[in-house]
Amino acid sequence: IVHEEFGRNHETAELHVSNEIRDKCRELILDNDKLKKIMEVFLDNVERGLKKKTHSTATVKCFPTYVQDLPNGTEHGKFLALDLGGTNFRVLLIELSGEHFEMKSKIFAIPQHIMLGSGEQLFDHIAECLAIFVKEEHVQDQRLPLGFTFSFPLSQRGLTVGILERWTKGFNCSNVIGNDVVTLLNEAIDRRGDVLIEVTAILNDTTGTLMSCAWKNKYTRIGLIVGTGSNACYVEKQKNAELWDDVDMGSGNVLINMEWGAFGDDGALDFVRTQYDENIDKHSVNPGKQKHEKMISGMYMGELVRLALQRFTKENLLFGGKGSDMLFERGRFYTKYVSEIESDPPGVFNNLIDVCEELGLKHATEQDYVNIRYICECISRRSAHLVSAGLAMLLNKMGEKRVTVGVDGSVYRYHPHFHNLMMEKIRELVDPSIQFDLMLSEDGSGRGAALVAAVASRLQKERRV
Ligand code: GLC
Repeated sequence: IVHEEFGRNHETAELHVSNEIRDKCRELILDNDKLKKIMEVFLDNVERGLKKKTHSTATVKCFPTYVQDLPNGTEHGKFLALDLGGTNFRVLLIELSGEHFEMKSKIFAIPQHIMLGSGEQLFDHIAECLAIFVKEEHVQDQRLPLGFTFSFPLSQRGLTVGILERWTKGFNCSNVIGNDVVTLLNEAIDRRGDVLIEVTAILNDTTGTLMSCAWKNKYTRIGLIVGTGSNACYVEKQKNAELWDDVDMGSGNVLINMEWGAFGDDGALDFVRTQYDENIDKHSVNPGKQKHEKMISGMYMGELVRLALQRFTKENLLFGGKGSDMLFERGRFYTKYVSEIESDPPGVFNNLIDVCEELGLKHATEQDYVNIRYICECISRRSAHLVSAGLAMLLNKMGEKRVTVGVDGSVYRYHPHFHNLMMEKIRELVDPSIQFDLMLSEDGSGRGAALVAAVASRLQKERRV
C-alpha cells in the first residue's frame, strides 16, 4: 500500500531531508577550500612520485609506462587481448584493418578463491580461459600478438615487463608481488602447451582508455577510470619523468600511470576521511592501502552508503530504528543501487522502493526515501568531487591549453549525474584558460590493449626490416 501511495503513480508533496541526517552528513561534503587543499597536497605527491630521489617513499607512484607511440592507422591483423582487474575478466580477439575494428570477446568469472589464492592458480586459470577461447574461435594454431590489460600497479621495465608492486581491489594472490606478471603468464601457458601466443604489451586500463580515445581525438592527454577501482594516467614531459630510462623515441613524452588510488596512504586525506572510510579500510583485504580509491570507486561506494544507513538506523533516524538482516550485512548494498536510486527524477522513488524491497525494508516511509536518497547523493558527489580535484590538479600541472580526458569505468558510465558533477566541479577548480572535456572511452581495456599490441608488433616488424 505504501508503494502505491509514494511515488509509483503520482507525485507527493515534497518532503525535506531531516535535519539530523543533514547535519551528520556534513562531513561528507567537500567544499572548494577542502578540494583545493587536496589538490595542493596531491600535486606535491605526484612530484614526489616522479622524482628518482623520492619515488621509493612516495605514495602516488607515477610509474612510467613504456607506451609512447600512438596508433597510426596502418596496424592490421588479428590480436588477442586479456583484460584483468575490472568487474569482469575478459578474453578478446580483435581484427584490425585500417580504421576498421572487429571484436569478439568472452567473459569468464574469477572465483573468490582464485582472487585470494596462489599466483600459480590465478595464471593457470587465465591460461585456461585463453585456451578455451582461442579454440572456440579457431585461432589456436596461429601465433597471435597479445595485449594484456592488467589493471594493478606495475613497475615497468619495458613494454612487456611489469613487476607487480601491490594488489588492489579484491585481489590478493600469493607469490606475485615482486614478480614479472608477463613471465608468470608465459609460464602458465607453457605448462599447458596447447596455446601459441606472443605477449607484445602489458598495460594498465587507464592507458588502454587513453589510447582508445586518442585514436579518435587528438587532444586526448589523460585516461581516467572510475570503476571497480580508480586511477588516471597522463602524458608527461620526458624530462620530468626521472624514472624513465629508455631511449627517446622522438615524442619527448612519456605516459605516466599515476596509481592515484594510493593517495592518502600516508594520512594525507585523514582530514576529510570519516568513520565510514575507516570502517571500509579496516575490513578490506588491503587495510591502510588505496585510501583515495576507497573514497571513490565502485568497489566501495555501495558499502559506504550502507554503513551510513546502518549507523542512522541504529541511531533511530531511519526506518523507525528497525533495519533488516540484509541492511546489516556487509557488502549487501550494491553500488549499482546508488546509480539506480539517483536515476529516479526528483520527488519520485520508484527505484528506491525496489531497492528497499530487495533489502527487506518494506516498512520504509517516504521520509526515509528522501533521507536515503540524500545520503546516496552525498557519497556519490564526494566521489565525483575527489576525482574532479585530481583532474583539475593534473590539468593545471600539464599546462596544455586544451585537453580531452578519456574516461571509462562502471561508476562513470552508469551513475546518472557523475559526468555532469565532474564537468561542473572541474570548471570551478581548474585554471579558467584551460579548455577540457570528458569523453567516454569505448572499451579501452579491450580495444586499447589490442591497439597497444598492434603498435608494438608493427614497430617490431619495422625494426626487423
Ligand atoms: C586500481 C589499480 C589500478 C587501476 C585502477 C582502475 O587502482 O591499482 O592499476 O588502474 O584500479 O581499475
